[in-house]
Amino acid sequence: MNTDVDQYEPGVLRVLQSKDEIRAYYNKIAKVYDLLAERAEQPMREKGLAKLAPQPGERILEIGFGTGHCLVRIAEAVGPEGRVFGIDISDAMVEMAGKLLCEKGLADRAELARGDATQMPYVDGSLDGVFMSFTLELFDTPEIPRVLSECRRVLKPGGRLVVVALSKVGKQGFLIKAYEWTHKHFPNLMDCRPIYVQRAIEAAGFDVKEADIESMWVPVEIVLAVKP
Ligand SMILES: C[S@@+](CC[C@H](N)C(=O)[O-])C[C@H]1O[C@@H](n2cnc3c(N)ncnc32)[C@H](O)[C@@H]1O
Repeated sequence: MNTDVDQYEPGVLRVLQSKDEIRAYYNKIAKVYDLLAERAEQPMREKGLAKLAPQPGERILEIGFGTGHCLVRIAEAVGPEGRVFGIDISDAMVEMAGKLLCEKGLADRAELARGDATQMPYVDGSLDGVFMSFTLELFDTPEIPRVLSECRRVLKPGGRLVVVALSKVGKQGFLIKAYEWTHKHFPNLMDCRPIYVQRAIEAAGFDVKEADIESMWVPVEIVLAVKP
């Protein structure tokens, strides 16, 4: 297989690690994940959460919740009548996020699952919102439409999808090129790579309502879309 770019999305690098490798990687780094990522990524997640605007009583899913900070924010927003669901491939992340929800007294309104978001255990049309930050760009190019199709399946008509992800749109400066080089040569070190976020969401049949390009140290797309 061509390990560089391919016919699915010209210019977008492939992700060739197996699910077992991805799971093992996140199990290994779970305890230090916040030290590695929290500072740079947190403002981007905040912007995504503001676009999602979870409301009291809603049922919201987060895919790839990591250490669980956004799950807490969503659980607070949906209140005691609402519910937050989370799916993550890493056992260690499920454990850490579960502990955090317990510490915050929010465990009774949360339901966490360990699994792969290409096949999700949620009923069709059962959710008001789906949130994903720094996770869609971890899926291999042919899997991205599958994950978005799963999001579409589980959302109610009118349900919201918010995705925060590294982007191929916007200024592709030296840092993003260094990032891609590292992804290509050391995929176990740099598991994600920039993708076309809005384009993928539109191709999956969502109506895009807002799409911002922000700058972290590389471009980040923050997209709000609705299931028709
Ligand atoms: C880069 S971290 C982002 C964590 C969190 N969303 C944040 O913004 O800090 C990606 C997360 O996605 C999870 N993940 C990776 N592949 C996945 C898959 N196929 N299905 C579900 N979760 C996955 C990882 O275990 C990890 O917790």
